[in-house]
Amino acid sequence: MRKIYLYARFQRFWHWMQALIIFGLLFTGMEVHGLFKIMGYEAAFHVHNFFAVALLSFIVLAFFWYITTGDFRQYLTEGNLVEKILMQARYYVIGIFRNEPHPFKKNEISRLNPLQRITYLGLTLVGLPLQIIFGFIYYYFNELVDLGMNPAWLEPVAHIHTLLAYLLIGFVVMHVYMTTTGHTVTSNIKAMITGWEEVED
Ligand code: HEM
Repeated sequence: MRKIYLYARFQRFWHWMQALIIFGLLFTGMEVHGLFKIMGYEAAFHVHNFFAVALLSFIVLAFFWYITTGDFRQYLTEGNLVEKILMQARYYVIGIFRNEPHPFKKNEISRLNPLQRITYLGLTLVGLPLQIIFGFIYYYFNELVDLGMNPAWLEPVAHIHTLLAYLLIGFVVMHVYMTTTGHTVTSNIKAMITGWEEVED
């Protein structure tokens, strides 16, 4: 085994801030949606909007970091992406329960397997931006109606925003489970805290 440095300080900070903010958004969003009453609708609404702006700021900052450091290359895949994703999916469904080795070995220049790459890329480039855009449309709905938007769109916008929130909860549940499938149950989480991980030589 050897120790490798996988996550720079900024990346760990960004990851945990993002997680915290998303938990905050889900929690306050549920209260705004009327699922429970803890801080009250008004407060939940304001905290939700504050977290949304915080998330957007962190995403912009993270984009800047990933591009200027060149770390975005970790998300690109060479060769047949579909074949690689299927290999990784087969491992999660069958191989992992037969104690087979991970199909893709981790190292400093390739820390994410193809399924992680496509999932995180989809979340960061499609899922979260869509959710933020629908959130902003919802927030500025009256102003947009004044500018000519059809008021009947309020309901679909609200439904899409809620649907995306449920999908995000699905992502978090799967994501946390997947992080326990490293070479030990906690090795991936430790790496996201300390930056370092032990991998096979
Ligand atoms: C709540 C929203 C969350 C989002 C949006 C999120 C997003 C991400 C992203 C984009 C990465 C890839 C970072 C990179 O390598 O460039 C990542 C990695 C990781 N995340 Fe999260 N995360 C969330 C919550 C969590 C939670 C709650 C945990 C653990 C309890 C966690 C543990 C990890 C770990 C261990 C990794 C390392 C790579 C892996 O095992 O996939 N995350 N996360």
